Amino acid sequence: MKLLLAAIKRVQKTVVRTRRQCRLSSRANSGLAPHRGEALISGSSWELVQRLGTQVEVRAAFITEEEEGALLRELEPGLRKKRYEFDHWDDAIHGYRETERVSWGAPCEEILQRVRSLAFPEGSPLLGPVHVLDLDKTGYIKPHIDSVKFCGSTIAGLCLLSDSIMRLVKEDCSKEWLDLLLPRRSLYILRDEARYNFTHEILKDEESVFNGQKVPRHRRISVICRNLPS
Ligand code: OGA
Ligand code: MN
Repeated sequence: MKLLLAAIKRVQKTVVRTRRQCRLSSRANSGLAPHRGEALISGSSWELVQRLGTQVEVRAAFITEEEEGALLRELEPGLRKKRYEFDHWDDAIHGYRETERVSWGAPCEEILQRVRSLAFPEGSPLLGPVHVLDLDKTGYIKPHIDSVKFCGSTIAGLCLLSDSIMRLVKEDCSKEWLDLLLPRRSLYILRDEARYNFTHEILKDEESVFNGQKVPRHRRISVICRNLPS
């Protein structure tokens, strides 16, 4: 059975681009916490990092190890019953299993409440089910834009089990890009232009490099909250 979120089918845009390594990075974001002494956002130009500054947030250590454990305890039994999907090459995601969850135990609900109150404008109607995406070590997410028919202006994701790199590329100008280092237990938020006009992707392990430094990509689970289109 296809899940609602799978049906949301990210509009996939495969972006071909030559990548000019640019070491500009920003601490402009208020939530930006250093990860091994580094900033978490790097981009094709300082101007772009500044312009998108408020629309892209990465908060390192948004949840504690205990909270990550609570989320995993709640999610693992259901996920373990599913097979990783590797065969749909046309899908936006390769090597994944996923689920949706409407009701959560108290400790997890408390975490999600923190995500919601930080990420979404007050009163913004949210997509009921929370999306849970489990990427195998060899899995990755190709460049895509989440369907505007089903999702609103804001996407907020908790990252469990592994560090990873999320790449944003401007849809109509592939020279403009941002790389986000998403540490394990971080929260990222994409809003407005960053959500609508940039593709996002999660790099595969072989390509997972941030500012010239390898960021090993292990199995990774994301817990994603979205709002509804207005
Ligand atoms: C998606 C997606 C990002 C993530 O499922 O559409 O982009 O952090 N997920 O898993
Ligand atoms: Mn997406």
